[in-house]
Amino acid sequence: MDTPTLARITPGISRLEETGLNEYDAIADVKIGPVKASFKGKLTLSDLIENESFFLNITQNSKIGNVAGKVGINLKKLDANQTELSFDGKANFSGTLASKGARIISGVASSLTKQFFKELHTEIEARDFPEIKEDIIKHSTRNSISMSHEITIKLNGQDKSVTVESRDLLVDVLRDKLRLTGTHIGCDTSSCGACTILMDGKAVKSCTILAVQADGESVQTVEGLATNGEMHPIQNGFKEEHGLQCGFCTPGMMMTAVDLLQRNSNPSESEIREALEGNFCRCTGYHNIVRAVQHAATNM
Ligand code: FES
Ligand code: FES
Repeated sequence: MDTPTLARITPGISRLEETGLNEYDAIADVKIGPVKASFKGKLTLSDLIENESFFLNITQNSKIGNVAGKVGINLKKLDANQTELSFDGKANFSGTLASKGARIISGVASSLTKQFFKELHTEIEARDFPEIKEDIIKHSTRNSISMSHEITIKLNGQDKSVTVESRDLLVDVLRDKLRLTGTHIGCDTSSCGACTILMDGKAVKSCTILAVQADGESVQTVEGLATNGEMHPIQNGFKEEHGLQCGFCTPGMMMTAVDLLQRNSNPSESEIREALEGNFCRCTGYHNIVRAVQHAATNM
């Protein structure tokens, strides 16, 4: 596709300059809700199969955020008289732009996509492709949008920044992105407590919290209990009182117990059992776990 054609069919393009084979520097002006933003970045065409398909790759940055997208365009001959024009688009938004709200972004993306499709359709109709008999050109479109956010968590005393998607659960980000696998996942119903961590000092089930909700908060996981190579009293308690067998529930049990002991330095047995009622153990049984917490209470 030549540069003037690409500039004509791509919505919002105010400048397009070829920098290499199928590579372009682009400036696009787009209105997002009440805000008019100028985006600067690259467009590339890839996987070109003449008269059949290609990908349009978009990387654009602006003061209000970034967009990375990929649109696959396909022409498929249905029969002697019909060719189907279709495309799939995926876009990922980050920065302030991502916090504008899915509805606005989705509306803008959908209208840009429709505009692009219309221009492409017109362009194809205006040309005489001998391979494409286009008495009728049908079309179908699909697109998906995701949003990413850069969040910063004070994690076990250190600031950690990580890029997450709006839908990411905190437990998944801790385990998969920050590689703190001491926080476990034992259910998908907020029942077992294996994922318990401390957020701002309070025990919470990290499978019920979105990672974006932890932005700016202080988070402590089981990895943050020991200090200078010395085990925390709760860890000692579980060790001394044989409070674990397989250990799967143990990180969550300990974090819940730490929350309790911060609020109540000398809990009764029934207070310990009540505090731990949201944490399940399938192999040790609860007697030794209660003793482990009592052991910790006397050593804190
Ligand atoms: Fe969170 Fe079970 S994994 S409560
Ligand atoms: Fe195995 Fe609790 S120690 S589930």
